[in-house]
Amino acid sequence: MKILLATQKPFAAAAVAGIRQIVEEAGYELALLEKYAAQEDLVAAVADADALIVRSDKVTSEVIDAAVKLRIVVRAGAGFDNLDLDACTKHGVVAMNTPGQNSNAVAELAVAMMIFMARTQFTPATGSEIQGKTLGIQAFGNVGRLVGRKAAALGMKVKAIDPFLTAEQIEAGGAVSASSLEDLYSTSDYVSIHIPATPETVGSIGYNLISSMPKGATLINTARKEVIDEAGLEKALEERPDLKYVADVAPDNFVTLQEKFGLRVFATPKKMGAQTAEANVNAGLAAARQIVDFFKNGNTRFQLNLRKMQ
Ligand code: 3PG
Repeated sequence: MKILLATQKPFAAAAVAGIRQIVEEAGYELALLEKYAAQEDLVAAVADADALIVRSDKVTSEVIDAAVKLRIVVRAGAGFDNLDLDACTKHGVVAMNTPGQNSNAVAELAVAMMIFMARTQFTPATGSEIQGKTLGIQAFGNVGRLVGRKAAALGMKVKAIDPFLTAEQIEAGGAVSASSLEDLYSTSDYVSIHIPATPETVGSIGYNLISSMPKGATLINTARKEVIDEAGLEKALEERPDLKYVADVAPDNFVTLQEKFGLRVFATPKKMGAQTAEANVNAGLAAARQIVDFFKNGNTRFQLNLRKMQ
C-alpha cells in the first residue's frame, strides 16, 4: 500500500518523520513528492498511490483520473477548496480534511497581523493599541473562536457572525453576536475573516462592506484571497485613507495596492498561517492516522464527500 505525501510547500522535517512512522508501523510505504515544479509532477506521482496526503496542492480531476489505484485523499489542513470533490466522488475516492489541527497557528497569525498593522508595520510611526478596540470575526469556527479568545485576553471587545451558528452559540463561545454582516463590518475596528472559499463566498467581501468600516479600521484576511472583491477593496482604500488591509497571501492586485497605499497594506508572499512546526505535526500526523484508520477499520469520520457517495 503506497501513501503519497505531495506538498509543494513541504511540512517540517519532524512532521514528515512522524507521518513516515505512522505509515510504516501500519505496514505501508511512504512516497514523498516535495516542492514539485509543475502540476504534471503530481499527476505522474499519483499513478500508483493508494492514498494521498496534500496541503493546498491542487487535486484536480486530472490528478484523480491519473490516480487509478487511489482510495483516499486527505487534505492535511482545514480548507478544501483545492480538492475536486466531484471528481473524487465519481471515482469512488474518499476525500477528507483534518479540521482544527492547524487552527491555532492561523489564529496566532491573525492576532499578530492585527498588532503589526496597529503598530504601522513596526516602523517608528505612531501606532495605536488594540486593547479596548472592537474585533469582528466573520465565521466563528475553529480558527475564529481561537482568534476571539486570544483577542479577548488582550482586552478587545469581540463580536462575531456565523451563518451556521445561533446567537446563543456565538455568545457561548465568548463573543457578542452581530445581527448581520453589515452590522459586524460597520461596528468593528478590526474585522478578521475566517470563511472558506466556496462559490457563495468568492468575491463576497467588497466595496460596500469594506467602506462601511469605522474610521481607522483594518481588515485582516487569513482565510482565502479569493473571498475578496479586489476592485472593491482598492476602491474602498482609495476613498478612505484611514483604512488598512492585511492578508496571508497577496491579492492579485497587490503591487498596485502597495504602490498606492504603502504601509496601509501588507501581504505575505506565500500562505504561511499554518506554517508552524506544531501545526505541521498536528495536521500531518492526523492525516496519516486518518488514512491508516480508513484502511484498517473503514473509519470515514471527516469525509467531505459523504452525502454524495451514499
Ligand atoms: C488550511 O486551509 O488548512 C490553511 O489555509 C493551511 O493551508 P496550507 O497547508 O497550504 O498551509
